[in-house]
Amino acid sequence: MDKKFIIAIDGSAATGKSVLAKELAKRLNILYIDTGAMYRAAGYYFVTNNIDLTNENIEANLDKLNIDLKYNSEGTIVYLNGEDITSKIRTEEISMAASDVSKNKKIREKLVALQRKMADGESVVLEGRDITTVVFPNADLKLFLTASIEIRAIRRKRDLAKKGQEVDIEEVRKSLEKRDLQDSTREESPLKQAEDAVVIDTTSLTNDETVDMAIKLLNERI
Ligand code: DC
Repeated sequence: MDKKFIIAIDGSAATGKSVLAKELAKRLNILYIDTGAMYRAAGYYFVTNNIDLTNENIEANLDKLNIDLKYNSEGTIVYLNGEDITSKIRTEEISMAASDVSKNKKIREKLVALQRKMADGESVVLEGRDITTVVFPNADLKLFLTASIEIRAIRRKRDLAKKGQEVDIEEVRKSLEKRDLQDSTREESPLKQAEDAVVIDTTSLTNDETVDMAIKLLNERI
């Protein structure tokens, strides 16, 4: 395929966005941008520096946040001010801090600009909360992923267990619900389904089935 194309994926946490985006990037040999990792890096900065997440504090520290994504054979490497923080941002604490920091308008402006710059001139798949509505509303393919809260809690618990973190499933469920509510009711770029996004409910789909569905939809569009 010569023409560059953009695949935009939004949805709540643990609906399968990352798995789908990674697999699409691999099969189509295109760039993958994990925008949640950028908000996680910002959240990590404030948590590790013990700075309360007020708008004033966030905005006073904006210029100190140098976030970058690089890639190796294992996937995305997340850098904050030159430090590789990839293994430190997938905790429940950082998930919540990312959601908290992402409410701020200025941080969103900074990260959206970075996302557009990274995608410039590339065929790319991006996933997050505002990709289909704000970052790339004219993407070639727009997907909105959903899944039942039960399966999402199971998936998140399994992901954390793989990283050596044992968590209570009820706690995981509560934290997912809290984040959903916060991400979808905030004033700035809330998570919502774009009118022209295709909804995929991944509750009873395998990863392969979801990827096949997305590729079929893409082929119909480009
Ligand atoms: O996709 P994730 O769980 O890694 O994202 C962490 C948080 O970052 C999420 O709860 C809300 C925020 N986020 C956002 O506001 N906009 C995005 N495009 C991606 C993530």
